[in-house]
Amino acid sequence: MKRLQGKNALITGSARGIGRAFAQAYIREGATVAIADINLARAKATADELGLSAYAVEMDVTDQVSIDAAISAVVAKAGGLDILVNNAALFDLAPIVEITRESYDRLFSINVAGTLFTMQAAAKQMIAQGRGGKIINMASQAGRRGEALVAVYCATKAAVISLTQSAGLNLIKHGINVNAMAPGVVDGEHWDGVDALFAKYENRPRGEKKRLVGEEVPFGRMGTAEDLTGMAIFLASAESEYVVAQTYNVDGGNWMS
Ligand SMILES: NC(=O)c1ccc[n+]([C@@H]2O[C@H](COP(=O)([O-])OP(=O)(O)OC[C@H]3O[C@@H](n4cnc5c(N)ncnc54)[C@H](O)[C@@H]3O)[C@@H](O)[C@H]2O)c1
Repeated sequence: MKRLQGKNALITGSARGIGRAFAQAYIREGATVAIADINLARAKATADELGLSAYAVEMDVTDQVSIDAAISAVVAKAGGLDILVNNAALFDLAPIVEITRESYDRLFSINVAGTLFTMQAAAKQMIAQGRGGKIINMASQAGRRGEALVAVYCATKAAVISLTQSAGLNLIKHGINVNAMAPGVVDGEHWDGVDALFAKYENRPRGEKKRLVGEEVPFGRMGTAEDLTGMAIFLASAESEYVVAQTYNVDGGNWMS
């Protein structure tokens, strides 16, 4: 029996990376998935690659009109919404004395407000449907503690953990499970960008930071997007019905609370 048979999912930022891997895994488990991304061309290409159970939706999580339109598009296309993954996010880093308001506003707008107001729109739809639902927010090990160069991103991910707790407690009475995942270091285009920023600020050759963080993972290597799919399926499935307001580390042993 497929674990997400007949379920309708929306995954923000799923044109590439971890969101794309989740979409593929959910489809394998029987779901229909909206590939919702600010990059519509890439979302369309990804949906084409993933087959008939995937479709592209243009969505900017910083824009309320776009959030509402994306939820409406899913309802029109698939007949309802059962699973939301708040996955879209932006990374940046700088020493405290070089952080700009522009970077701060952009990261909080996507990572925090985007998560909250997409969660709100999805919850309204799920409550109206009256059959519960699953919301999974992407936090990070960066939300567990600060990092010298990563103040703003770490703060956004700490906020995602906190929002997951409050929303989880508030929405469980509607049968909506809100939980989060905290990955460690996951290889992919995102980390190529992270590596380039560390190279600049720590004066390293490109690729060195990525190699070092991989070596430091107790499991012995960086994660892959596929390493995260087991937890993503579990949190979207009926098996997680009694799991409320939690953030799960899926990080090869990097963090232990
Ligand atoms: N890669 C890692 O090492 C890692 C570690 C911990 C947590 N995470 C988290 O996992 C999630 C996915 O990470 P990833 O590595 O796949 O990232 P990624 O950068 O590869 O993908 C992010 C996607 O979000 C989309 N996006 C950006 N702004 C958007 C907006 N305003 N509206 C809609 N879509 C937008 C991008 O177009 C892109 O497709 C993020 O929340 C990230 O913070 C990643």
